[in-house]
Amino acid sequence: MDWGLRNRLSRILNPQDGKGVMLAVDHGYFLGPTEKLEDPKKTIKPLLIYADSLMLTRGILRTCVESNANIPIVLRVSGGTSILGEDLSKEAITTSIEEAIKLNASCLAMSIFVGSKYEHQTLSNLSKLIDEGEKYGIPVLAVTAVGKEMARDARYLALSCRIAAELGAHLVKTYYCENFEKVVEGCPVPVIIAGGKKLPEKDALNLTFNAIRDGASGVDMGRNIWQSDHPIEMIRAVRAIVHDKLTVEESMNTFFLNKDMRSNELETLKTR
Ligand code: R5P
Repeated sequence: MDWGLRNRLSRILNPQDGKGVMLAVDHGYFLGPTEKLEDPKKTIKPLLIYADSLMLTRGILRTCVESNANIPIVLRVSGGTSILGEDLSKEAITTSIEEAIKLNASCLAMSIFVGSKYEHQTLSNLSKLIDEGEKYGIPVLAVTAVGKEMARDARYLALSCRIAAELGAHLVKTYYCENFEKVVEGCPVPVIIAGGKKLPEKDALNLTFNAIRDGASGVDMGRNIWQSDHPIEMIRAVRAIVHDKLTVEESMNTFFLNKDMRSNELETLKTR
């Protein structure tokens, strides 16, 4: 692995502990204006300082993130489908490597759909993207997407993660599941987890804790952060588990403490 690629990867996963908190805001690429991400600029801005990296498409990067933002960019470069379309797995590469370089991406991300109708297309796109990325020292995150009819169990997720790693992905994103340690054991590159649908805060922190305990290298989390009524407190609590090894109870305490402090601050501001 060359120096540039290792350097970029070290911006995604902190070399001190090998862990990372990636803030995912790429949902609109097939879902449109997702709840609480209708105005991405407003959602992203207050959370940026607590994220280690930001995952999004070029359109949202260009229009909703200041160009002087000091945040490594994980650029989603696959898409071309929508929830209304024929088949979500029919993704193409939507952003060129030249464009990714111009946007100063630290990592490229694309979805693979193992077991779907377009499995071959997405896996061969992944291989090509890795070849392109490696030419310029840019790592690739493979997102193991799960179709409605596919079970999110360890057997299936281990299959998807291992295939992504075999094709050369530098980092893999998947879902937490029972026997998650089997997924991690079978994957020779770091595995991070998506948060999935919005859960009560404590459940999302529990998910984060279990994933880290079972070998995940971090999270690529979206809805469980910015769909919370307290997104700042939530990302801080997630960070505390990922980087500071806090338990769920301890991170919930930081969540409530930070929430109370913020509401006091807001009250004080109102009375001025
Ligand atoms: C899918 O829309 C994207 O790859 C998301 O970035 C990913 O699912 C993580 O977001 P969430 O935590 O909301 O599942």
